[in-house]
Amino acid sequence: MRITLLATALVAATLAGTAPIGAAFAQGDVIAQRRAGMKRMGEHMQAMRAVTQGQGQVRAQVARVDDMIAWYRTEPALFPPGSDRGDTRALPAIWTNRADFDRQHVEIAERLQALRGAAQAGDAAAFANAFQQVGASCSGCHRPYRAPER
Ligand code: HEC
Repeated sequence: MRITLLATALVAATLAGTAPIGAAFAQGDVIAQRRAGMKRMGEHMQAMRAVTQGQGQVRAQVARVDDMIAWYRTEPALFPPGSDRGDTRALPAIWTNRADFDRQHVEIAERLQALRGAAQAGDAAAFANAFQQVGASCSGCHRPYRAPER
């Protein structure tokens, strides 16, 4: 519960810090930025999938998870209104359903905390379980908010 409140506060703080972005160039920038970050998240998940299959050290994943936690804290600010136009698969539903989109960031933050705890404890079974949960959060947000591959 404390984690939920903290994460909510962080998301709110991040959103409050979002300046209105008018210029098309700046808009292109946030799209490139969020896509690059998401790509990095994909790489982290791929590497950790291998760990759940016995390739790699569970404890060594803490730094990776920390990078993910930090990323999802700042990510909502990279979805300013209107940034569904351009080289992006972000769907307009993000902005018509903003509270839910933001809530998904809180959810993945909580699941990443569980993953971090399991990594720190070196608990392979808990790590694999938490990894599944994080993966479910990825697809849980992609389904409503990301257009299928063109
Ligand atoms: C809160 C919603 C949300 C969550 C959670 C989320 N994503 Fe995404 N993801 C998106 C959206 C929206 C896009 C499309 C961004 C764009 O094209 O501008 C995207 C795009 C991507 C891309 C494509 C990047 C590119 O090259 O264009 C990858 C890879 C990705 N996500 C991986 C992940 C992984 C892995 C997770 C879980 C660890 C995750 N995402 C969690 C919303 C989310």
